Amino acid sequence: MTDLHLRFVEACDLDRCYEIETSAYEGDEAATREKIATRIGQYPQGFVVLEKDGEVIGFINSGCADEVVMSDESFKELVGHNPDAPNVVIMSVVIFPDHQGQGYATLLMRHFVEQAEKAGKRSIHLMCKERHIALYRKFGFRYAQPSPSEHGGMSWHEMVMALGG
Ligand SMILES: CC(C)(COP(=O)(O)OP(=O)(O)OC[C@H]1O[C@@H](n2cnc3c(N)ncnc32)[C@H](O)[C@@H]1OP(=O)(O)O)[C@@H](O)C(=O)NCCC(=O)NCCS
Repeated sequence: MTDLHLRFVEACDLDRCYEIETSAYEGDEAATREKIATRIGQYPQGFVVLEKDGEVIGFINSGCADEVVMSDESFKELVGHNPDAPNVVIMSVVIFPDHQGQGYATLLMRHFVEQAEKAGKRSIHLMCKERHIALYRKFGFRYAQPSPSEHGGMSWHEMVMALGG
């Protein structure tokens, strides 16, 4: 039987998370090892990993902001991040390619949203490509606006989910 386990990230997960990020994202869309290390070090409470049979196969990481500016590239290095701020900004939602299409992102997102609610957060924001809009709608996000960002030479869309907190 498959053993699935959701937990917060730990320092020892850095290499595997970097491997997943670079395997699943195209080209310069992937965060650098340094950026992932910063997210693990500064805000592990906003970094959830999914383990399958003892191996990390995917994760969601984030920061928090009082005022969300999705196109702010420096936020990806957590510049301006305040752990007590009410709005969560997701930076990565990623599942290792071999394990995609089996509902694992859905599982991770459901858990991530629960954790954000428990922490009393007010909203969750993310930026996605056109092809993922339907996926995030399914998770309960609503379309906010086209993004001014041209990260990686592509067009991006901002999605938002309001929480009870
Ligand atoms: C996007 C991603 C996280 C989805 O992970 P996953 O575990 O394969 O997703 P799930 O299996 O939980 O799929 C959830 C639903 O979305 C659909 N879906 C998944 N990927 C999709 C895609 N690229 N386009 C459209 N629908 C998609 C699935 O069919 C499923 O629908 P269903 O419940 O009706 O069957 C994964 O493909 C990935 O890591 N991609 C590379 C990184 C990336 O681009 N992340 C998104 C950043 S905005």
